[in-house]
Amino acid sequence: MQFETADLRENVYIRTFGCQMNEHDSENILRMLEDHAYRSTDDINEADLILLNTCSIREKPEHKVYSALGRLKKLKDKNPKLIIGVGGCVAQQEGEKLLKRVSYLDIVFGTHNIYKLPKLIEEVKKTNRRVCETTLYDTDAIFKAYSIPSKCKVKSYVTIMQGCDNYCSYCIVPYVRGKEMSRKSEDILKEVKRLSEMGIKEVTLLGQNVNSYGKGLDKEMTFYRLLHSINTIKGIKRIRFTTSHPKDLSDELISLFGEFDKLCEHIHLPVQSGSNSVLQAMKRGYTVEDYIEKVEKLKKVCPDISITSDIIVGFPGETEKDFEKTLELMRIVKFDGLFSFKYSDRVETKASRLHGKVDDCIKGKRLHILQAYQKLFTLAKNIELEGKEQEVLVEGRSKTNPERLTGRTRSNRVVNFEGDSAITGRIVPIRIKKAYLNSLKGEII
Ligand code: 5AD
Ligand code: SF4
Repeated sequence: MQFETADLRENVYIRTFGCQMNEHDSENILRMLEDHAYRSTDDINEADLILLNTCSIREKPEHKVYSALGRLKKLKDKNPKLIIGVGGCVAQQEGEKLLKRVSYLDIVFGTHNIYKLPKLIEEVKKTNRRVCETTLYDTDAIFKAYSIPSKCKVKSYVTIMQGCDNYCSYCIVPYVRGKEMSRKSEDILKEVKRLSEMGIKEVTLLGQNVNSYGKGLDKEMTFYRLLHSINTIKGIKRIRFTTSHPKDLSDELISLFGEFDKLCEHIHLPVQSGSNSVLQAMKRGYTVEDYIEKVEKLKKVCPDISITSDIIVGFPGETEKDFEKTLELMRIVKFDGLFSFKYSDRVETKASRLHGKVDDCIKGKRLHILQAYQKLFTLAKNIELEGKEQEVLVEGRSKTNPERLTGRTRSNRVVNFEGDSAITGRIVPIRIKKAYLNSLKGEII
């Protein structure tokens, strides 16, 4: 007779705010907790442990974190044994203040303390005390949490560096993610090899400023050389990286887009503004002309390259003329996609102390114009693909329409199409039938 063994693991629910870096951190947190008698759940009501992995890069995601925390009170009232933890950038920024402000919060863990989470949970359980751990380190111990490969899927992120030393005047990242640190190339290569053995076909190398990878490592290493090594790993069919800083995008690196067939034809290259005086106040370290020159070089070595970007509107001192220069830059580059934001003051940053703050209503108007304008470019670029053949990595059933499969082109566009889910993980040729703003519809050839 066979007895079913009861699953004694507790349930963990994790909600992620913000960027890919946080999504990847959350994935690692889950993998790590699975090794410590937890199992992940999508139902917050059945959770024994709720974690919020937070983002404070802009005002909007930060507000979202606080309202999410507010909603958790009811759950804690219902189940006093429930453990609630906050990690990520808000945790790093607020530290003990968060514990004081939110009486039902148990754990605050900073951006360098992910790997300590199982210990912190144990401590809360044993002592019933609330804990806060937000030390920022300058050793590569912080990469410990990244040594666990993600579950077998089709694509995966791989963290190659943490933190940032650029101190763009509006940005909180250097304060909450610490100084720039590169992960050892041996560890990165080991992880990519393991991922490829698990069936992963595409890796996205992650870091705040990947182009400056290698600084401070014992062994001489550059991002260019790292890419060379990853390119030789069998099984990996596609390589992407994000985020690139225009000032550190070397000619050597640009040339790789024409050399490596595994390197996908897409680069996310945040420009932030089309006005030189704003760029200077932002301390970005390049001019609009430098940026355009890099774009032209990229398009020369790789005519089909897709270029996406980030733009901030309403930076302190931004005039109507400055804003028009940003629109002019958009006309010149014709970005394939754009993330745009209203400037928001972040504590400690230089920009928060600048004069000439732009009225929120004007920021709103500029954002609206810019986004409407970008829609034209995005759609036009997508329409250009109608009737053309695209290579798509099949990721599985579409979440929005399970009848269809979904995948991405090398230029990172989402394509939905009909097919058998057995081809998940394969790279297939697809004829694009119809273009929309955020996706393409296609047919397997
Ligand atoms: N206000 C508005 N947008 C910001 N970003 C970073 N800091 C701020 C801020 N204080 C944007 C930048 C960056 C993206 C990740 O977030 O465009 O590239
Ligand atoms: Fe922030 Fe600038 Fe560093 Fe990007 S490069 S994370 S915008 S400080």
